[in-house]
Amino acid sequence: MSVKKVSKVQPEKFEFNEQNLEVANKIISNYPQGKQQSAVMAFLYIAQRQNNNWIPLSAMKYIAKYLDMPYIKVYEVATFYTMYNLAPVGEYFFQVCTTTPCMLRGAYKLVDICKKKISEKESEISKDGKISWMEVECLGACVNAPMMQINDDYFEDLDEKKLEKIIDNIKQDKKIEPGSYKGRKSSAPENNRSTLMDTKNA
Ligand code: FES
Repeated sequence: MSVKKVSKVQPEKFEFNEQNLEVANKIISNYPQGKQQSAVMAFLYIAQRQNNNWIPLSAMKYIAKYLDMPYIKVYEVATFYTMYNLAPVGEYFFQVCTTTPCMLRGAYKLVDICKKKISEKESEISKDGKISWMEVECLGACVNAPMMQINDDYFEDLDEKKLEKIIDNIKQDKKIEPGSYKGRKSSAPENNRSTLMDTKNA
């Protein structure tokens, strides 16, 4: 289960930079007059991207003003969805799926590695400031379970050793490769099977 906490340390001001202002205005033009508040989720996402992957309260206030809606409504949306971070996260943000298919394939062993090598507590940034982790619900890649999302990429078919290697590479500033760690292409069957007939008693 994911834990969501609003950061105690908050910047006083937030506003979209020039580039995001342009994106925001484009998004808003997709909605009919009077329905601009529907852009709230997209705006929160842009704010998160601009602010190192988390949304400060000042950004929620800014968005509320921008979309002419009550601040509490923006706050409700931001606190409801796990995709929004309300406190700083590591430069590498691990979202470990622990829903049933991943759980059955060893997701909690991955959680144990995160606790051992990143930080004992969920959502706490590692001492070197590089990594934080949290549990999330199904990320829609169950067929390649267990898996996790690191920043924008999916890392699939993991086990403890592979995850340890990924973390070590990050700590040593080495490149990490997304995708299947069993060498599968997308969600192709293991061992290059192409039909169920390839397996006896399938
Ligand atoms: S259960 Fe983990 S991706 Fe669906």
